[in-house]
Formats: sequence, structure tokens, C-alpha cells
Amino acid sequence: MSPAQTNNALPSEQQEKPRIVILISGSGSNMVAIADAVAKGDIDAEVAAVISNKPEAAGIQKAKDRDIETQIVNHKDFANREDFDMALMQQIDEYQPDLVVLAGFMRILTPAFVINYHGRMLNIHPSLLPKYQGLDTHQRALDAGDEQHGVTVHFVTEELDGGPNVIQAIVPIYDGDDATSLQQRVHTQEHIIYPIAVKWFVSGRLSMKGNSALFDNTELPASGLPLTNQ
Ligand code: GAR
Repeated sequence: MSPAQTNNALPSEQQEKPRIVILISGSGSNMVAIADAVAKGDIDAEVAAVISNKPEAAGIQKAKDRDIETQIVNHKDFANREDFDMALMQQIDEYQPDLVVLAGFMRILTPAFVINYHGRMLNIHPSLLPKYQGLDTHQRALDAGDEQHGVTVHFVTEELDGGPNVIQAIVPIYDGDDATSLQQRVHTQEHIIYPIAVKWFVSGRLSMKGNSALFDNTELPASGLPLTNQ
């Protein structure tokens, strides 16, 4: 395209929207929250694809229902974690994403995969990180007698559930709660904070530097921003 043609282009044609690829393994409710925020124009980006490691993931149909491209890269088709991650990386990179969003993607990632998306991959984890990395977070919070629990969006680094925190939502734990009731309370907050974090990233307000998350070029506290401040 010649410079003259570039100048004649409408603003919307001059710049492509940031591209997001979302990885899921299950119901995909966080993917839906983000995709719907994009569809409403709350997030100025494009969901380029939703990819699952599980063919039966319910979220795949939800993405199709929203006319989002879907792909399956089944981890069972690969002899080891490294081969799976390489294939997944190739599939993701076909979409040239600005941001990779892990939304209930239940795989441990290899260092090569994490490094490839350094500073442009977010995860959501159902605990107030750094508490309760790993699985069964709701039951562990109950067993510990905690009065509060919650959910964190964080950048992904090589440490499992350990990269710099971006945003946290806190929920109370009530007498009589069980893991299911607590999970439901946390899930509601997940659908609020994940679209916020994605919006911050694609609008250029959120970045990762070293092992810190920066918001408007200011280092965030170790816990990330609390939802109540938004
Ligand atoms: C969410 O609760 C998310 O926090 C959790 O998986 C669920 C996926 O739900 N992620 C992890 O535990 C990652 N360690 P969804 O498929 O309905 O979005």
C-alpha cells in the first residue's frame, strides 16, 4: 500500500485490533465472559481463536456459538509434554496473538512454552495467590479455617501459579460453606476480574517487567490491584 493510500484509510482500517487467543480445558465460562466483553465493545480486541486440549470441553461449543474459530490440540495425541507444547505453540502462533489467555487451561506448561509468551500470557487461578497454588484451592481454604478466599489474575512465568499478580477479588467464607458453594462465589468474581485484566492489557495499560506487573507504568503491589479499587 502506498503512503497516499495509507493516509486515505479510515482510522479503523489503519490499525488492526489486538489479537487474543484463549486456551481452555473445560466449561469455558471465563472465556465466555471475555468473549462477550469483546463482542459488547468493552474490550477493544479480537478473539482470534479458542483452543482446547480436550475435544470434549464444553467451552468449544460456546465459542462456536459466538462465531469464534476453535481448534483442538489433544494432549493425548503426544508422547510427552514437550511435544504437546510445541504443537500447541505452533497452533497458537498461526493466529499471531498479542495476548494468550489461559482460562481454565489445566496443563502444566514447559519452560519453552512459557518463554515464548513472556509478558503476554495471563492466567486466572482460584485463590488469593500466593496462597494455594495448584489444585483443590476451595477445599484447602476451608480446611485451613480461612475467613476469606478469592481469585487472582496473574502473568504466567515458569513458576506454577507464581507469576506477578495483576488483580485479585476477595470473597468471604461463611459458616456452612462447602467447596461447591465457595467455588460458585469465586466464579462470579472471576467473570468480573478477567475481562478487566484483559482490557487493561490490550489497551496498553498493563505490562510485565522483570518479575513485576506494571499498571500505567507503576509497579503493582505483590497481591495485584484489589477489585474494590476499580
Ligand atoms: C476457573 O475456576 C479457573 O479459576 C480455574 O479453572 C476454572 C475454569 O472455569 N483455573 C485453575 O484452577 C488454574 N489453576 P471455566 O472453564 O468455567 O472458565
